[in-house]
Amino acid sequence: MSAAATDLLALDRAAQDLLFRAARTANTFTDEPVDEEQVRAIHDLVRTGPTAMNAQPLRVLLLRSAAARARLLPYLSAGNRDKTASAPLTAVLAADVDWHDRLPELFPHRPGARDWFTGDPAGREAQARLNAALQIGYLLIGVRAAGLAAGPMAGFDTAGVEREFFPDGRHRVLLLMNIGRPGPDAWRERLPRLDYAEVVRTL
Ligand SMILES: Cc1cc2nc3c(=O)[nH]c(=O)nc-3n(C[C@H](O)[C@H](O)[C@H](O)COP(=O)(O)O)c2cc1C
Repeated sequence: MSAAATDLLALDRAAQDLLFRAARTANTFTDEPVDEEQVRAIHDLVRTGPTAMNAQPLRVLLLRSAAARARLLPYLSAGNRDKTASAPLTAVLAADVDWHDRLPELFPHRPGARDWFTGDPAGREAQARLNAALQIGYLLIGVRAAGLAAGPMAGFDTAGVEREFFPDGRHRVLLLMNIGRPGPDAWRERLPRLDYAEVVRTL
């Protein structure tokens, strides 16, 4: 992108780089801890990200201790195991399919809204997956805003992780995310991105 185009954005250039241009997906991590206060600051930054009906279905389970991590590792694909074992923090990112129970509080100007969804578990799950996925995107950018690196992973046994960590049956695990400072050889080769003309059409 040209310097002039960069300057069309409201965000200053250093922030653009931190969040996007220079940000990478980390595959190794140092042992520097990610503390609870950092995670709270990230949540505080991204919690206003929009969701349909303000439903906010994302639920986050943080695995910090070695014992908690050991429960996750057997469900990971082989390529995801070592980096997850050595990351200071791993987030299990799940969607609450009973998000409609919170609508009276989160969407109060439509008092009957919860009841629209009680008999529609398939529709609720679709909404939960879409909105939680959006929230995961906000969270990933929030991790970068904190000066940390994220390593999202879809390569794992989803049903196994749900049985292990969410036996209540009301959560669908969508993604795992390692969080920390990048370690040695953290980056793979930067892969090509689609051009504007391949992505955008204007009618
Ligand atoms: C939803 C999602 C799932 C991913 N799953 C895995 C995975 O299971 N294992 C892995 O090593 N990388 C995984 N990645 C990392 C992507 O391959 C990586 O983010 C992408 O190639 C961009 O890399 P870059 O940010 O370094 O340019 C995943 C990324 C996303 C967003």
